[in-house]
Amino acid sequence: MPQGLRWGILGTGGIAASFAADLLANGLQLTAVGSRSQVSADEFAGRFGSPTAHASYEALASDPDVDVVYVATPHPFHEQNALLAIRSGKHVLVEKSFTVNEREAQAIADAAAAAGVVVLEAMWTRFLPHMVRIREIIAAGTLGDVRTVIADHTQKLPSDPAHRINAPELGGGALLDLGIYPVSFAVDVLGLPTRVIATSSPTETGVDRQTAIVLEHDGGRQSVLHTALDTAGPTAASVLGTEGRIDIDRIWYAPTTFRVIDSQQNVIEEFDHPVVSRGMQYQAWEFERVVASGEHESPLLPVAESVAIMGVLDEVRRQIGLVYPGE
Ligand SMILES: NC(=O)c1ccc[n+]([C@@H]2O[C@H](COP(=O)([O-])OP(=O)(O)OC[C@H]3O[C@@H](n4cnc5c(N)ncnc54)[C@H](OP(=O)(O)O)[C@@H]3O)[C@@H](O)[C@H]2O)c1
Repeated sequence: MPQGLRWGILGTGGIAASFAADLLANGLQLTAVGSRSQVSADEFAGRFGSPTAHASYEALASDPDVDVVYVATPHPFHEQNALLAIRSGKHVLVEKSFTVNEREAQAIADAAAAAGVVVLEAMWTRFLPHMVRIREIIAAGTLGDVRTVIADHTQKLPSDPAHRINAPELGGGALLDLGIYPVSFAVDVLGLPTRVIATSSPTETGVDRQTAIVLEHDGGRQSVLHTALDTAGPTAASVLGTEGRIDIDRIWYAPTTFRVIDSQQNVIEEFDHPVVSRGMQYQAWEFERVVASGEHESPLLPVAESVAIMGVLDEVRRQIGLVYPGE
């Protein structure tokens, strides 16, 4: 439940607006917004009732009334934006992908540890009610030996070459924007992979259009994952065990329903838990709980795991030949 942290939002784009709306809908406290422009900051503050509108990220980071900064810029700016907030003594919630690569992710982790602040990747799926229940079912042994994760994240996104999703300089491509969801889910269920195998095809702008990934995990377990930015697929996921499976309905990474099905094809549990607003409040509640408890990270997504997931994505990119400007 809310512990009264004062949230500052860094950036005024699409996901910043969704998060602000979820804060408001759930009684959480939006205190300030920071933008590169006063006009955008004022417009955003007016739309969501933020008391303060800063015309720079620096002003937001040094605002004494802000406890936690939510970084909602494109991924190539996450490292510098998060470090700015951390060096001002703020806790940070950093949008996915956490960074562009593992090196940048480690820099955030190191800075947060040195400053003694909480850092969390905003992989909001981890904190949703259906994922909490799925972890319980797996831990209870209902599925037997869990062998396989199958997940896709495909969307038909704008084809405009200048759009963030297609622009190399803005960290574009399916992998970092969409593919990180199935990779993070696979790591949550089966642990970090022992081997990564990937194949991909590029957009005309040179980022990945569609990427298929197989992860091998301990004991010969496997994850079969797919992402694409120009096709709208089922965006469903399954977890397969020797005694049963979980089928998560579309859109598996957002609030949704699932069924537990035993090895005889009997449905033994149906999960349907209505969620208020978009569902990003669960990560905010977990963040507030961590800060209130005096811990420095969430056990549901330790920062070292976010760093390691960026390492998995680095290996995928090495295999598919995707290098971002300045790397
Ligand atoms: N959790 C989710 O469900 C979800 C969904 C979508 C996106 N995301 C993540 O959230 C991040 C932002 O995505 P978005 O879709 O919100 O992007 P967006 O709509 O393009 O907004 C990005 C914002 O970042 C700021 N910014 C700073 N430098 C920029 C630059 N050089 N070019 C463009 N914008 C710049 C801008 O805010 P100012 O002009 O105010 O400075 C801009 O409004 C990405 O890392 C993405 O992966 C998460």
